[in-house]
Amino acid sequence: MKSSVSKSAPVARLRAVARGSQGFSLASAGAHVEVTALAPDLLRLRVARGKAASPPPQSWAVVKSDWPAVACTVKVTKTGASLATAVGKLTVNLKSGAWEVRDAGGLRLFTAAAGSTAFRDAKAEVALDLTPNESLFGLGETTGTFNRRGQVREFWNIDVLGHAPAIHPGLKSLYVSIPFALSLREGRAAGLFWDNPAKQTWDLGQTQLDRWQMSADSGELDLYLFLGPTAEGICARYAELTGPMPLPPLWGLGYQQCRYSYETRERLEEVAREFRRRALPCDVLYLDIHHMEGYRVFTFGKGYPQPAEMIAKLAKQGFKVVTIVDPGVKDDPKFGVLKRGLKQDAFVKQADGTTDFLGEVWPGAARFPDFLSAKTREWWGDEQAALQAAGVAGFWNDMNEPANFARPDKTLAPDARHATDFGPRTHAEVHNLYGQEMARASRDGALKHRPDERPFVITRAGYAGIQRHALVWTGDNSSNWDHLNDAVQMFLNLSLSGVPFCGGDVGGFMENTTPELFTRWFQFATFTPFFRNHSNLGTIAQEPWALGEQVEQICRDFLGLRYQLLPYLYSLFAEARATGAPIMRPLLWHYQNDPVAVACGDQFLLGRSLLVAPILRQGAVARSVYLPNDLWYDFWTGEQLVGGRHVVAEAPPEIIPLYVRAGTILPLAEPQQYVGESPTEVINLHVWPHGRGQLDWYEDDGETQAYEQGAWSRRTITSSTRGKTLTVTFGAVSGTFESRIAVWRLVVWSAKKPARLKVNGRPAEGSFNVDTGVFIADLGNFDGEFSLELVGV
Ligand code: GLC
Repeated sequence: MKSSVSKSAPVARLRAVARGSQGFSLASAGAHVEVTALAPDLLRLRVARGKAASPPPQSWAVVKSDWPAVACTVKVTKTGASLATAVGKLTVNLKSGAWEVRDAGGLRLFTAAAGSTAFRDAKAEVALDLTPNESLFGLGETTGTFNRRGQVREFWNIDVLGHAPAIHPGLKSLYVSIPFALSLREGRAAGLFWDNPAKQTWDLGQTQLDRWQMSADSGELDLYLFLGPTAEGICARYAELTGPMPLPPLWGLGYQQCRYSYETRERLEEVAREFRRRALPCDVLYLDIHHMEGYRVFTFGKGYPQPAEMIAKLAKQGFKVVTIVDPGVKDDPKFGVLKRGLKQDAFVKQADGTTDFLGEVWPGAARFPDFLSAKTREWWGDEQAALQAAGVAGFWNDMNEPANFARPDKTLAPDARHATDFGPRTHAEVHNLYGQEMARASRDGALKHRPDERPFVITRAGYAGIQRHALVWTGDNSSNWDHLNDAVQMFLNLSLSGVPFCGGDVGGFMENTTPELFTRWFQFATFTPFFRNHSNLGTIAQEPWALGEQVEQICRDFLGLRYQLLPYLYSLFAEARATGAPIMRPLLWHYQNDPVAVACGDQFLLGRSLLVAPILRQGAVARSVYLPNDLWYDFWTGEQLVGGRHVVAEAPPEIIPLYVRAGTILPLAEPQQYVGESPTEVINLHVWPHGRGQLDWYEDDGETQAYEQGAWSRRTITSSTRGKTLTVTFGAVSGTFESRIAVWRLVVWSAKKPARLKVNGRPAEGSFNVDTGVFIADLGNFDGEFSLELVGV
């Protein structure tokens, strides 16, 4: 009789079949193992079924394959095989199949015991040992704790309403799946990415406290092992592997207002007028599903007559319009998009491979474009061009898990068929890629039809590498404190998973917000990369003025700060693009050796300079803040604080605890109502002396693709203080973009009246304000290197 319990086939009894300069391969009766060094700190371990070598699986995540040769030592003996680089060494025991990676100092980074690498029916499995003090971060979009240790995560994109842990305690899946983790133990970081878009389940020490058990429902083991030792180095490699985030248009960093739904043109125009009348800065207005004709994608319904004329009018007031774009195409035989899609044979098929799969979304019965095929993506981009022609500036790709109301599992049937670029696949095999490839269609289409305009694409679903196509917003949260709490770690873990451009619905989507919750959320979101207010059908109004005068004034102040921060944020975007460094960073990013900082998931750093400690509890007017071991300044009062300890921060309603690291050079623009309202010619360079600081200044036109061809301007600006002398040095400019900055206005938080200022050795003028303790001097701008000295700070 056949047993119903599935049997695991561990990978063991291996023999060496090939040995090269960059790695080796092994085979057993049922498995083929390949180990390769891609970089000194990045190894790839493939374990495939079958004893013969097979071509590597196609990847939708990995973009880099041309790694330069690595200096390494490959050894194969009768009992084992090993691959060593300058950073670490992977060893496989041939008989037992156990494998491990140690760093050059002998510390174990990954340990897979005998029997823990296996195939079980269609599944591939691996289990790693966890050391007692190991923490795990990343995993893309997650709810619950910041450190993921002790949790179970299933990578299977789903549409889930109200995903806070208090509402869905057992929730294991979300909209985005990124099977990447960053591990930290004793100040040492390592990372792992399993590139397999099938459903994966990771038990991170929940069932067995000391085991990290991973399995994928199909496919093979394709592990990228990052040897570190720093989080910074690992995320840089991960970004190299999965591709850089393109720069968004600068207006995409501005404040954005959404609602499900501004149902008519009149209402949208009224909202626009209110923003300007009330002097509340805003760049983007959204059209949710009610703008369409019966939820038919790429159309405008009766509520929005003459959309092009409306959008042009809004543009004159400084607003961009972004529309929602859902994948489900209404199954209406008269609908042009459907007719053309059918002609292209563009839709996902049922298991028979010929009949279109039908599901149900907002428009009722709908077909699902097969975004995994290039032909369909191209067609979709061409359809999207109708929106661009009407002046729509960006696309909000929603429901792309894909959501399907017609099935209990809320998505397409696992045996539905996709004709992908790499041959046919079942839906189960590529489910997690659907949203990613939709976003790709949207971005590529936008660029094709407006080659000189930077695309702006938002997505709800995605897989590893999603940052190449879109920013991620974290879906349907609720207006409660739990969700606000959750948002902090969610964005931090997403940021560590290669998605620097992320954010969530400010104020909360579902349920009614309150003035206090809204205020605290708004203050927090001022410092998140994506800053959009959104709320559900039937909830109370959530525009910044809708919750009373005090809230409105606080929003105005924080919007003012957000727009002043744009040059700093933009430089961080450029850094994220170049190096993979998150914009919103957990403390561990800069303080990896400090266990208190590592564990801290309710504060964050914006770049290297600002520390934000949001108020996350109802009624709180103070909170405990951990200041890592550095010298800090209270942003609001200028008070100097020694770090390496917790402090109590006062936070009346109009304040979010905010600190600046000593030495910081913070570039602040003049306030604006929207990006481009007036040219940014003056940059206020705030400097908090008594330390060393560096600003990697980046500037470009903020709207075209010219930056891809070097039309940018970069310079490093450093500060250092010795004794009572502050020195600020502007490095020479690189890049071909002519800086628009006419004046660098130095603003030094000095407290004392400085005795003298010299620019390039020559005496220069400045003024000191006794009340604020701030020294100000206008410096002009020069392309070459120059420096200034301020004596007596
Ligand atoms: C989904 C989205 C939400 C949107 C709604 C209607 O729930 O997550 O943001 O408002 O659909 O389109």
